[in-house]
Amino acid sequence: MTKGFLNRLLPAGALALAGALTLGASAMADTIKVGIIGPFSGPFALQGKNFQAGAEAWLAQNGKTVAGHDIELVYRDLPTANPQQARALAQELIVRDKVQYLGGVYFTPDAMAITPLLKQGNVPLVIFNAATSAIMTSSPLVVRTSFTLSQTTTPLGKAAVERGVKKFVSIVSDYGPGVDAETAFKKAIEAAGGEVKEAIRIPLNTTEFSPIMQRIRDAGAEGVFAFLPSGPPTLGFVKAFSDTGLKKAGVKLFAPGDLTQESDLPALGEAAAGLITSFHYAVSHESEINKRFVAAGEKAIGAPDLLSFPAVGAYDGLFVISKMIAATAGKQDAEKAVEAVKGLGWESPRGPVKIDPETRHITQTIYLREVAKDAQGRWINKEIASVPEQKDSGLTK
Ligand code: PHB
Repeated sequence: MTKGFLNRLLPAGALALAGALTLGASAMADTIKVGIIGPFSGPFALQGKNFQAGAEAWLAQNGKTVAGHDIELVYRDLPTANPQQARALAQELIVRDKVQYLGGVYFTPDAMAITPLLKQGNVPLVIFNAATSAIMTSSPLVVRTSFTLSQTTTPLGKAAVERGVKKFVSIVSDYGPGVDAETAFKKAIEAAGGEVKEAIRIPLNTTEFSPIMQRIRDAGAEGVFAFLPSGPPTLGFVKAFSDTGLKKAGVKLFAPGDLTQESDLPALGEAAAGLITSFHYAVSHESEINKRFVAAGEKAIGAPDLLSFPAVGAYDGLFVISKMIAATAGKQDAEKAVEAVKGLGWESPRGPVKIDPETRHITQTIYLREVAKDAQGRWINKEIASVPEQKDSGLTK
């Protein structure tokens, strides 16, 4: 059957996937391609570079060969949340580049656009970042090595009330992870005896934060809970919180660790000092395995100050993909590959982790941290408490 003939019968997307299936069955690949989609240029480029650094750190430590097959990483740039482009890139990776695995994906809407392609393409997706709980229910071929906002936010309620802060204004980016964060914080703060007086949702592309700071001031809040996607928005938010005098006035900001990623701390300096966050990973986490990871990650990214949490999602993501390759002896069998990592546990640079066999999301310790200086005078997220074995709680209503 010629391509032209199929072209007339099928819409472009279906044609592309049909082509992939025919070719996929006959191709015996010695090299297994892993397509990694992330923001490698534009305002979120550092987040994508952290995907790359984490993946390359894993290969540098473990070698490029798994079960006799060489792994080849194929990167595709998706600068900002753009579901249409995400879908096109994933399709191109599956069909033209014949990747056996997909990894990466920074933003939730992009993950949601890719998951419908997985079954027909016979390709698992290992998510290195996108953190909305519901992504996992959109395809049985998704595994996630990052975190969810529900998972990271939940311990903040108790932490806030213990510090004497009960009345909150909540501010989130108006999309999946923001809504999850808002919901989880409300539940957690109410369980701890506090309350959310006002819940504000702002557009994902907000860059000017002084009007929001004025609203917080007008609301007379004791505390602010905030989630925005890590990158320029979080840097802008934390800076504005300090620059407009709210921090000095004693309003307490509590947030998931997206707001204080290590690569932003040198620019924030005192503006972030003392901020309490909760998260799954701190670059300063004290363990031998993390020391080795940080050394390899910093080498891959090229400068010590640039390493941040997307790198650990990618590093563990490569580990998961290596287990999938081994379990399928290099053959393309997405279902078998995913099945093989259900219940898989290991020691990550972040601490002990496990792929939950039901949700395929990562179970992990969530740490309470405070922005402080270490002995060398570098700003870090200093771990001050830990809550072990946290599953995702975002799908339980
Ligand atoms: C997401 O879109 O799922 C996302 C992006 C950046 C974050 C967290 C979640 O820091």
